[in-house]
Amino acid sequence: MLNFDFQNKTEIIFGKNTEERVGVETAKYGKKVLLHYGGGSIKKSGLYDRVIAELKNNNIEIFELNNVKPNPRLSLVNEGIKICKENNIDIILAVGGGSVIDSAKAIAAGAKYDGDVWDFFLKKLLVTDALPIGVILTIPAAGSESSSGSVITNENGWYKKSFGGDVIRPKFAIMNPELTYTLPAYQTAAGGVDIMAHVMERYFTNEPNVDFTDRLCEATLKTMIVNIPKALKNPTDYNSRAEIMWASTIAHNNLLGTGRLGDWASHNIEHELSGIYDIAHGAGLAIIFPAWMKYVYKHNMEKFIQFATRVWNVEYDYNSPEETALEGIRKMTSFFKEIGMPVTLEDAGINNEKFEEMASKATEFGPQGNFVKLNKQDIVEIYKLAE
Ligand code: NZQ
Ligand code: ZN
Repeated sequence: MLNFDFQNKTEIIFGKNTEERVGVETAKYGKKVLLHYGGGSIKKSGLYDRVIAELKNNNIEIFELNNVKPNPRLSLVNEGIKICKENNIDIILAVGGGSVIDSAKAIAAGAKYDGDVWDFFLKKLLVTDALPIGVILTIPAAGSESSSGSVITNENGWYKKSFGGDVIRPKFAIMNPELTYTLPAYQTAAGGVDIMAHVMERYFTNEPNVDFTDRLCEATLKTMIVNIPKALKNPTDYNSRAEIMWASTIAHNNLLGTGRLGDWASHNIEHELSGIYDIAHGAGLAIIFPAWMKYVYKHNMEKFIQFATRVWNVEYDYNSPEETALEGIRKMTSFFKEIGMPVTLEDAGINNEKFEEMASKATEFGPQGNFVKLNKQDIVEIYKLAE
């Protein structure tokens, strides 16, 4: 097990009616809030009106910036930075999913920086200051509610890039599973795959003697395998929605990554897909993860056999242990299909014309992945396996 420092300072406020606390929690950080949200789901559900009422009850002055798109865009981030600077905003309240939260994080960092916020994404400097961020989560998926990262798409060239730092981690995250009842099945499933992917990125490590976190990863994956189909069948089932929502945070607050070095190649390979083709990040991962696994499983067959037997209940094949490993990958792929996800590029209507370009962009800062280091050509091969 590797040495580690672990700290996650986001206060999680979880359960029924917890959004009623938004005014009180926000007021702890000031009197001027930038309310940031997406394309309208919070208005349709009535959450918007309840949030406004609670903020007003606490004498908070409200500025608004909406229309965050899935795979959030840099141009809107720049608009938000301008609003914050011109109005001396004290706190940003993100009401939505990973896209809204990530956009809020970039605004929070940009509001405290004199240069171009894209500098952080180009790794020209590290982020050291940001406005505080509060969250009301409406879709369990990205884990951004307590992660230190933000992923933004620059429309100028369709570069999807990330930056991170402890100062952009949200101060609080209000998580009421009832707020996820209105999620379309596709978003429920895509979010579920993203949660599973965050676990698997950490699970496939070269670090030996990480039994405890291996078991935590397996428990999280098994919880998702049981509860995603339940939520799809009965969207207003509080218990399955709650299991998924709490798992989404734990999957990405880095508890499961303690003492080990995660892989993260699949995420970077996927970001090129959602950056260019604007598909849901979780759907992109349902396509890329099986292909990545097929490409790398021989690197550590034992780990893939463990994954197959413990997570997917595959019986160990004594005549062909390799078959055991492959059966685990097949079972995972079938599960993604059953919950309505695309599992090939063809399923998502994507052809091979941009493989070279995407692989070049993915390796711009060097080879990707820690379990197996992948260069540009490896990544082209993985896209081919995903066809
Ligand atoms: O915009 P609205 O109208 O709100 O609709 C959204 C959006 O269309 C809808 N939605 C959200 N909550 C809803 C709802 N519809 C009905 N009822 C509700 N309760 O869902 C759609 C998707 O929302 P989005 O925020 O894009 O989803 P997600 O949370 O999956 O976020 C995806 C983004 O997060 C990034 C991804 O790359 C992607 O850009 N990631 C961020 C990470 C991080 N910051 O740590 C890590 C992840 O690996 C990921 O890369
Ligand atoms: Zn993800």
